[in-house]
Amino acid sequence: MPPPLSPPSTTTTTTAVLLFLLLITISPSPTLQQQSDLDSDCTNRWIHIRHLPSRFNFDILSNCSAAHHPFSDDLCPYLPNHGLGPKTHNQSHSWFRTDPSLLELFFHRRMLEYPCLTADPSAADAIYLPYYAALDSLHYLHGPDYNSSSQHGLQIYNFLRFQNSPEIWLNRHGHDHFLVLAGSAWDYNQPLNTDPPSWGSSFLELPEFFNVTTLTLESRAFPWQEQSIPYLTSFHPPNVALFDSWINRVRSSKRSTLMLFAGGGRISSAPNVRRSVRLECDNSSNCSKSNEFSKLCEFIDCSNGVCEHDPIKFMKPMLRSSFCLQPPGDTPTRRSTFDGILAGCIPVFFEDLSAKKQYGWHLPEDRYGEFSVMIPKEDVVFKGVSVLEVLKAIPHGEVRRMRERLIEMIPRIVYRKHGSSLGLKTMKDAFDIAIEGTLQRIKSRLEDVRDD
Ligand SMILES: *[C@@H]1O[C@H](CO)[C@@H](O)[C@H](O)[C@H]1NC(C)=O
Ligand SMILES: *[C@@H]1O[C@H](CO)[C@@H](O)[C@H](O)[C@H]1NC(C)=O
Ligand SMILES: *[C@@H]1O[C@H](CO)[C@@H](O)[C@H](O)[C@H]1NC(C)=O
Ligand SMILES: *[C@@H]1O[C@H](CO)[C@@H](O)[C@H](O)[C@H]1NC(C)=O
Ligand SMILES: *[C@@H]1O[C@H](CO)[C@@H](O)[C@H](O)[C@H]1NC(C)=O
Ligand SMILES: *[C@@H]1O[C@H](CO)[C@@H](O)[C@H](O)[C@H]1NC(C)=O
Repeated sequence: MPPPLSPPSTTTTTTAVLLFLLLITISPSPTLQQQSDLDSDCTNRWIHIRHLPSRFNFDILSNCSAAHHPFSDDLCPYLPNHGLGPKTHNQSHSWFRTDPSLLELFFHRRMLEYPCLTADPSAADAIYLPYYAALDSLHYLHGPDYNSSSQHGLQIYNFLRFQNSPEIWLNRHGHDHFLVLAGSAWDYNQPLNTDPPSWGSSFLELPEFFNVTTLTLESRAFPWQEQSIPYLTSFHPPNVALFDSWINRVRSSKRSTLMLFAGGGRISSAPNVRRSVRLECDNSSNCSKSNEFSKLCEFIDCSNGVCEHDPIKFMKPMLRSSFCLQPPGDTPTRRSTFDGILAGCIPVFFEDLSAKKQYGWHLPEDRYGEFSVMIPKEDVVFKGVSVLEVLKAIPHGEVRRMRERLIEMIPRIVYRKHGSSLGLKTMKDAFDIAIEGTLQRIKSRLEDVRDD
């Protein structure tokens, strides 16, 4: 087992921020020569990174402690390694205590090594805003600015539109800009000027940002400007050998548990699919063992955030389970969906909003039947359909085929480590696919605007 986390200290925070700043200042902007070495064709793929004052990114990191927003987690311990968090233990090269809410920081770091960067905004196909949008929302969500949460985003808009080279925005009215908002869109679509304000900010309701492509962890049912991309898991390999050895482990792992559910310990009284799944899991763990599985259902108690930064707690059980149940929690999506895929644990979904209607760039919508199981939540809650019976009825050969298809998806949802080996860079990871999708989306948006 890894050593327990050391208590957060301001030194860690300051060091993390300093290291990041140092890196940014010393890394030269890539020259054309370097770019052509890395990637021969940048046509239609040029990206310009907007220079923003540090109050829109790095300064926000120095307010990472819970002291600044008492009802959210202390994020300071997870800032090292550009937001991947500290390694799980000293010998680890690929496993980190990653907090998915730091995707904004990590994405920024990965953008800096994107091979087709240009210093000239007018030559760029897309413009990246290194604004830590969700981190910047914490003082509205939890802090002193609760009552002005409809202002979230206006400061940076004013900066872009009026203060700093307004022509970069005006050139295409923001249609070529994109940013990352590492959270669920539901937290950011509070109607403007609600009085008194409800939970959340109005970032996605601001007409000022309607034209900007926003990468979120979860989109609304009818998204306009946002697109979901995978949550960060804890696995960030630096080279091909480490990636391959994980894949081999996943493939050869003995699946002695039929199904697994990782979630909070409390069972709600209102009927919902989460409750049904939990009850069925508890119940089936009492049942007589089948010949094939030593356990029919394993429940991982993740109450009070105990699993979040401790991947060993859930990755090992996921490796030995055939299916991972992914009922919606407070919102339809969960990080656990990606942890499960990474472990080759076939996801069982209960509604399309949990993944199929979200991550179309990364997990092709028309192929879900090949690598996942769908059991409509209404059937479970109101028609007494047993998840256990549905899964037991799937023939072995079919389960093996599904797992193979699932394993093929793993590279698409992994965020490889920054500064990884050239070999691993040739594998398209979650970041690369997000950039490809963004460029395509911006291209078609600009065409639409021109046609209007
Ligand atoms: C950090 O917190 C302080 C005090 O709470 C606040 O005055 C400051 O504006 C915050 N900085 C950023 C960049 O949010
Ligand atoms: C891990 O490495 C650091 C620095 O190299 C060292 O200070 C620390 O004691 C090591 N921890 C363990 C548990 O080996
Ligand atoms: C927000 O406004 C309400 C009244 O409208 C007030 O009771 C509350 O204290 C305010 N919250 C903050 C954080 O200022
Ligand atoms: C968004 O784009 C439209 C044209 O497509 C433009 O009229 C509008 O001003 C843009 N919004 C902002 C905030 O720039
Ligand atoms: C619990 O298991 C028993 C015996 O297998 C079964 O009859 C009962 O319907 C199950 N209850 C739930 C809530 O799944
Ligand atoms: C399953 O076992 C636990 C304790 O082992 C018990 O509390 C629970 O009531 C049992 N559930 C059923 C449905 O028998």
